[in-house]
Amino acid sequence: MAEILDGKALSKKVKAQVKTGVEELLAKGKETHLAVVLVGDDPASAIYVKHKHKDCKECGIISHDFRLSNDTSQEELLGLIDKLNADTSIDGILVQLPLSKGLDEHQVIERIHADKDVDAFHPFNIGLLSIGMPRFAPCTPAGVMEFFEEYKIDIASKNAVVIGRSNIVGKPMAQLLSTKDATVTLCHSHTQNLAEICRGADIVVCAVGKPKIFGKDYFKEGAVVIDVGMNRDSEGKLCGDVDFEEVEPIASYITPVPGGVGPMTRAELMKNTFRASELHI
Ligand code: GUN
Repeated sequence: MAEILDGKALSKKVKAQVKTGVEELLAKGKETHLAVVLVGDDPASAIYVKHKHKDCKECGIISHDFRLSNDTSQEELLGLIDKLNADTSIDGILVQLPLSKGLDEHQVIERIHADKDVDAFHPFNIGLLSIGMPRFAPCTPAGVMEFFEEYKIDIASKNAVVIGRSNIVGKPMAQLLSTKDATVTLCHSHTQNLAEICRGADIVVCAVGKPKIFGKDYFKEGAVVIDVGMNRDSEGKLCGDVDFEEVEPIASYITPVPGGVGPMTRAELMKNTFRASELHI
């Protein structure tokens, strides 16, 4: 039986710490402001953005909502980012992804001032992460690291496998684990003998985005199983990449979906926004 890594409880704790930090800054006369930009009318993105505003309110962060229509041009979006970069009251800028068709995501990310890049997607912040000196860490991998710290799970000298090599999750996850002295294998859709590689791992992070594809054959007894997936099963119920019922009995620790990595990602955005505010005192 695995111990459940409780993202709901831990995210509350992290957000409470952020709130305290934000209030301390406020006592010194420094408000904390986050600009959230949503282009288009994707319903899932709209829900994510709503959550971000709610979290800000909970942490004493002043959030600003910028909604742009589906037919917004690249120039208009870059113009808004330039304005927010120049606005000294704004500490963090988050442009919700994916952008609508025709917009250049990379150019948009690079335009955000690195000091205001609370997603940690800017190449400068990725560079700092890769040399082991992160200023902001991407929210999902940072949230996973927070679990290891809270539950005192050893990382140093452990074999860790990360499945999925996205810029947002897999690659930074591998870097953070490596910085903490794990031996990391980064797997992806072209990896051969994936189950065998995973069975050799003490820690497995699944970030593929396919419902329940990792059953017990992928894990050794006592593995730490981190499920970044957020999918719907055949009945429309939320589920992860891991078959929780099958894997939980053999794991030492496991994250549930929902209530695991998801709430931690949200909390880490608040933490990065607080850090950005500290940079702008
Ligand atoms: N869309 C899905 N996840 C994220 C995220 O972490 N940041 C942004 N900006 N957009 C997203």
